[in-house]
Amino acid sequence: MAMIKEILALKKERQATILAHNYQIPEVQDVADLVGDSLELSRAAARLDSDIIVFCGVDFMAETAAILSPQKKVILPVSGAWCPMAHMITPEELHDLKSFHPEAAVVCYVNSTAEIKAESDVCCTSANGVQVVNSLSEKEVIFVPDRNLASYVARHTDKKIIPWDGYCYVHNNFTVEEVRAARAEHPNAEVLVHPECPPQVIDQADFVYSTAGMGRHARASAAKEFIIGTEVGMIYRLEKDNPEKEFYPLSKDAICHNMKKTDLAKVLRALQTLEPQVAVPEEIAARARTAIERMLAVKI
Ligand code: 13P
Ligand code: SF4
Repeated sequence: MAMIKEILALKKERQATILAHNYQIPEVQDVADLVGDSLELSRAAARLDSDIIVFCGVDFMAETAAILSPQKKVILPVSGAWCPMAHMITPEELHDLKSFHPEAAVVCYVNSTAEIKAESDVCCTSANGVQVVNSLSEKEVIFVPDRNLASYVARHTDKKIIPWDGYCYVHNNFTVEEVRAARAEHPNAEVLVHPECPPQVIDQADFVYSTAGMGRHARASAAKEFIIGTEVGMIYRLEKDNPEKEFYPLSKDAICHNMKKTDLAKVLRALQTLEPQVAVPEEIAARARTAIERMLAVKI
């Protein structure tokens, strides 16, 4: 296809790197240099040589890359691609929460704004939330903004977790009935769900993973069929990496509309114009960088 050729040629000419999240549409995943979960993409953004990063994902992901590499141009091909959960807590609300719990450490899920990261001690992703919380010396931890990830972490730590009431509408919609129905239809399948799912759905699953964790599990498992409790874009990635295995979405309606806003035409335009660029004011970025770098130093 002509547009793919144009993207690949311009990417080479500009020495740009295209990063894509696992939920991006197949065509976008296919032109990316790296497709991954939030942790893999943050690590890549921190170590990449290219001066230009085209980030196919949502706002907080591109912001994280811009915070880690302020000297690079980070382009989010669609400026309106955002994660609603990341905007479910304001800096003022976090200030209030901190004043009620002055002894507590503050952990923010990477699905948060730069301002929230700047007010936090450390960041985490769905891949390392438990390890990040357990690495802290404080006994109490404010965990924002995802209540479901907070509840998952609380089950795997002795620390007192103080959650915020945010959630991801895609994962929060999964139900126990959907898991039961999928298991009845595919009795030999393993059930993998994301920690953004509600606790009662997690209780019904065989395994809980970030999107990259699902990929690693599917490759290593002896099972041939899998029910996937996350955004449907993940199915393409899993099928591509494991052509001999079967993957069934827990719900075909689990669609993150903001992740689907990026298409090949937008990627091409981003490479042509180097717009829209994501930049975070340095006084916020400096504090947010500390929280992200502290997370990247935690071994998992
Ligand atoms: P992962 O880091 O597991 O890919 O999750 C990101 C996300 O936005 C989940 O909804
Ligand atoms: Fe945000 Fe949910 Fe979309 Fe992930 S799937 S980007 S958490 S709205």
